[in-house]
This record gives sequence, C-alpha cells and structure tokens, in this order.
Amino acid sequence: MNRAPLLISSRNPKKIKEIKTLLSPYFEVSDLSQYPDFPEVEETKNTFSGNAGLKAIEISRHFHGYVIADDSGLCVKVLNNKPGVYSARYAGKDATDKENNAKLLEDLSFFKDTRPWFASFNCCIVLAQGGEKVAEFNGVVEGKITHQEFGEGGFGYDPLFIPKGHKQTFAELSPEKKNKMSHRANALSQFVQWCENNL
Ligand code: IMP
Repeated sequence: MNRAPLLISSRNPKKIKEIKTLLSPYFEVSDLSQYPDFPEVEETKNTFSGNAGLKAIEISRHFHGYVIADDSGLCVKVLNNKPGVYSARYAGKDATDKENNAKLLEDLSFFKDTRPWFASFNCCIVLAQGGEKVAEFNGVVEGKITHQEFGEGGFGYDPLFIPKGHKQTFAELSPEKKNKMSHRANALSQFVQWCENNL
C-alpha cells in the first residue's frame, strides 16, 4: 500500500500522537495544527459515531483527500455509562484532565460499596472524503476504575483506568503496551485492514 495523504481532524496533541504512531507506517499523516484556518467543529451529537461523523465530514469539505476523526470517551457502568461523549468536558467546558479525573472520583465516592467500578473506553473512527462519510470503525477496551490516580503517561482518564487482565493503569503501562490494546488501537487496526481491502 502507498503512503496516501490522510488528515486527522483533531487538535488534541496527545490523541494525534497516538494516532500518528499507529498510522504513519501506512499514511502520510497530517493534523489540524497544520490547517489553522479550518473551522472548529462543535460536538453536538450524543453518540461517539455522531460526533466523529460531524468532525470528519465537515473537515473533509475543506481538504483534498481522506480525513479521519476520532470521538472517544470513558463509560463507567455504575454511573450509567457517564461521562461517555462528555468525557472531555465532564468537569465543565475547557476542564483539564486533572479536573475531569477529580470529578469522576468524587462521583464514584458515592458508590464505595459497589466496587470494582467496571468501565470501558470506546472509540469511533469515521473516514470521510469530499463531505461524505465513507466508513466507520469502533473499538472498545474493558477494564475498571481505580480509587486514585496512578502513573504519569498517556492522557485523559488513563491514570484511573486498569485494562482487564492487567494490574497497572494505562498511565503506568508503556505507550507501546497501551497502543497494542487500546480502544483507539482496536478501531485503527480495523481501519488499516479496511484500507488494505478497499483503497
Ligand atoms: P473527544 O476529543 O471529544 O473525543 O474527547 C475524548 C475524551 O475522552 C478525552 O479528552 C479524554 O478525556 C477521554 N479519552 C478518550 N480516549 C482516551 C484515552 O485513550 N485515554 C484517556 N482518556 C481518553
């Protein structure tokens, strides 16, 4: 497969880094930091698929080539799958990762008797071109939430999430290990497989 140009419709540097690591062997990858004039797309839908679609389709109207967008988040069972699509802004608009993690632990403090707190990270990747959705890929990783933050790596809720079958959080595991099992890695490997069959 030739390294075709691919734009990631995101301005989140840590998310971009993970996606680039996984896709650079296959694509000439760029991201929105290289296109400051492209519009800011608001996430107004209530599903990962809906928001990933908005971000990919709108930006693909401005870019000559393929565009992918990732919408992802954490779903905690005892919180009725919250924060879900609101993961980035759980503690409020422009909340930091620290603030979101603190709010999650505060909300979970009411459920001390119902541990383990089962959770999953979910990721939807939408591929678009010329204002049209081309395909969609969904990845999930199951695990549980810890009672305090552990580790410095990764981003978002990584210091609180222990993937099933492991004893350390995503923030304690190496980026290589996270990138082998994460929700994003899972969705992106389906995307790469799809490209090998269709492009
Ligand atoms: P999005 O930019 O609307 O997709 O927001 C995704 C949010 O979900 C991030 O800001 C994080 O809070 C959370 N999230 C998504 N993927 C991960 C991950 O791999 N690790 C930790 N948190 C994540």
